[in-house]
Amino acid sequence: MSESTDPNTTHSPSSPVQQEDILTDHEYDGIKEYDNPTPGWWNWLFIGTFVFSIFYFIFFHMGVGPSIESQYDAAQAAHIEVLFGDLGTLEPDQETILAYMNHADEKWLKRGASVFQQQCAKCHGSDGAGVAAPNMTDDKFIHVKKLEDIARVVAKGANKQLMPAWEKQLHPNDIVLVSAYVAKLRGDNLPTRGWAGAVGEPIDPWPTE
Ligand code: HEC
Repeated sequence: MSESTDPNTTHSPSSPVQQEDILTDHEYDGIKEYDNPTPGWWNWLFIGTFVFSIFYFIFFHMGVGPSIESQYDAAQAAHIEVLFGDLGTLEPDQETILAYMNHADEKWLKRGASVFQQQCAKCHGSDGAGVAAPNMTDDKFIHVKKLEDIARVVAKGANKQLMPAWEKQLHPNDIVLVSAYVAKLRGDNLPTRGWAGAVGEPIDPWPTE
C-alpha cells in the first residue's frame, strides 16, 4: 500500500507516479484539489463546437441556407404535388362540387372530410352540427344559396372573419373537396349544438345533376 498514500505524487493506485501533479491550496472538509489543466482534446472539442456554431448560425439563421419554414413549405408542396398530381386545379363551381359529391373516387370525399376535421371541426363540430358556428346539417343557411357559395365562403370568409378566409391556407382543390364534404353533411339534420347566432333561411335542395 505504498503508491496511493501520498496525494502529491499520484491519483490512484494504478496510475504511474506523476511528479507534475501539484495540489492547489484549496481545502474543504479535508478534501484537496489537484491543479490539473483541462486536457487538450477537451479544449479542442469545445473550440470545435464554437466554430461549428458560427457556420450553423450563418447558414440556418442568416438566410444563406434553407429555413425550417421553407423546408416545410417545400415538403408540403411536394406532398400536394403527389396528392393532386393527376387532378389539375379544380374550379370552385357547381358542376365540379357536384361531381366530387356524387361521382368522383371516394378518396376525394375522404380528403374533404380530413380537411374538415383538421380545420373546421373546432368551430363547426366534427359532425357539422355547430359548436361556435352554424349547423350545416340542416336546410338553413346564412351565406349560401347555391353550391358554389360554400366554396366562396370558405375561400373568402364571412361575418368579419368570424368565419375565417381559407384561400391562403388551403390548396384550391382542398377548398373544392371540403365544400363537397360540407354539402354532403346537409340532410343529416342533427340538432344544433352550441351556436346561438344567426341560422339563416331554408334554401332550395342542391341540384342532383
Ligand atoms: C373560427 C371558427 C370557424 C372555423 C375554424 C371555420 N368556420 Fe365556418 N363559420 C364560422 C362562423 C362563426 C360562421 C357563421 C358566420 C356568420 O355568422 O355569418 C361560419 C360559416 C360557415 C359557412 C356558411 C354557413 C351559412 O349558414 O351560410 C360555411 C359553408 C362554413 N363556415 C364552412 C367552413 C369550412 C369548410 C371550414 C374549414 C375549412 C370552416 N367553416 C371553418 C366559424 C368557423
